[in-house]
Parts: sequence; C-alpha cells; structure tokens
Amino acid sequence: MEFGDTVRRRRMCRDFDGRPIAAGILDMLIDQARRAPSAGFSQGTGFLVLDEPRERDRFWEVTLPAVARAGFAFPGLLRAPAIVIPLAHSQAYVDRYAEPDKARAGLGESAEAWPVPYWLVDTSFATMTLLLGVVDAGLGALFYALDDYGPLRDAFDVSGDWQPIGIVALGHPSAEALSRPVGSAASRPRRSFDDVVRRGSWGA
Ligand SMILES: Cc1cc2nc3c(=O)[nH]c(=O)nc-3n(C[C@H](O)[C@H](O)[C@H](O)COP(=O)(O)O)c2cc1C
Repeated sequence: MEFGDTVRRRRMCRDFDGRPIAAGILDMLIDQARRAPSAGFSQGTGFLVLDEPRERDRFWEVTLPAVARAGFAFPGLLRAPAIVIPLAHSQAYVDRYAEPDKARAGLGESAEAWPVPYWLVDTSFATMTLLLGVVDAGLGALFYALDDYGPLRDAFDVSGDWQPIGIVALGHPSAEALSRPVGSAASRPRRSFDDVVRRGSWGA
C-alpha cells in the first residue's frame, strides 16, 4: 500500500470479526514499531502482548468488569484477537541522559527535570508506527484509554517504573467497522490545514 493511502485509510476500529491474526504478523508489526525514533536512542518502550485466550479473558475481566460491560458501546471490541499495551520507561531516559555524551543537557538527575517527557513521546511514536503497520497489513486497531491502570498492572505484573500509555486492540475489522467515522470522529470535523498551520510566528 502507498504510504499516503495507509495514512488516509487509518481510522480507529472498534468492531472486530473475531478471526485470528495470521502467525507471525503481530510480531512483525511490533518489530516494525521497534524501529521508531527515540531520544538519545534510549528506547525506553515495551509492548505487553496479550493474545492467548486466557490472557484476553483476564484483560477484559479486569478492565471491563461485567457490570460495565452490559452497557458498553463497542461490544465488538471484545472480539479483538490481540491486545497490545505500550509501556514507557522514564528511568531508561534518565539513565541514558546521565551518560557522558548527554550529561550536558542536565536531564540525568530525575524525570522531573525533563521539559517534555520523551518516554511518552517515543512510546507514542512507536505506537503510531504500530497503528500504521496494522493498516498496511490489512488489519484494524483501536488505541484507547483506561480510567485506571491499577487493575491491569496487578493482573499482568506491570511494575510502577513502566507506564502504560493506553491500550491497542487489534484484529480483522468487521465488514461495517471502517465504513464510517465512529466515536468522537463521527461528531467532530477534522481541523483544516489553515487552522492547524501558522507560518513564521505563532502570534496572532
Ligand atoms: C490518546 C488517545 C486516546 C484515545 N482514547 C480513546 C478512548 O478512550 N476511546 C475511544 O473510543 N477512542 C479513543 N481514541 C480514538 C479517538 O477518538 C480517535 O482517534 C479520533 O476520534 C479520530 O478518529 P480516527 O482515529 O478514527 O481518525 C483515542 C485516541 C488517542 C490518540
């Protein structure tokens, strides 16, 4: 697929047909995501993969308990054959920037010193690479947020130094899934090019 087509076709998928992802494809997509850039090549990103039935069941049990599931707007999301949780490791960046070639930046003391938390930026870059790879592979994905990552951390042993930035559910889109905008994109227009871009100065 042409890159421009991949970008334009990408749309969040909230309804899967339940078919499994062919062997090796998920690993290939994550391997691609691993090629995303990172500050100082710190590479403080990880991906927790839940693609075994027992793991997926546990995931839904702890993130969408039965009482919440009853009124859940996207029941087809629970048919996703794979859940991937991108994780950011701030200490990898602090440690990297304490090394001699980076020490001048003064960011090697603590995460609080960073004007921009690049562990979140880099894990987001890697996740976007994953999302575009998903489209290129003819699959669909939803990146979404949890209100509380505590139960997920407990269930899957995610220690406090790894920060989940969200959830990626992926698989084969149902026939209807990508035919129209869903969620916020259904009710909000995309901002225009001219609204997004200012040239030369950000002032009025
Ligand atoms: C950081 C982030 C958090 C999001 N959280 C949710 C979410 O919790 N639930 C959901 O249905 N979609 C979520 N989305 C998807 C957005 O609603 C979607 O990207 C936006 O409406 C544009 O639609 P499109 O991605 O289909 O083009 C999230 C997207 C991002 C980037």
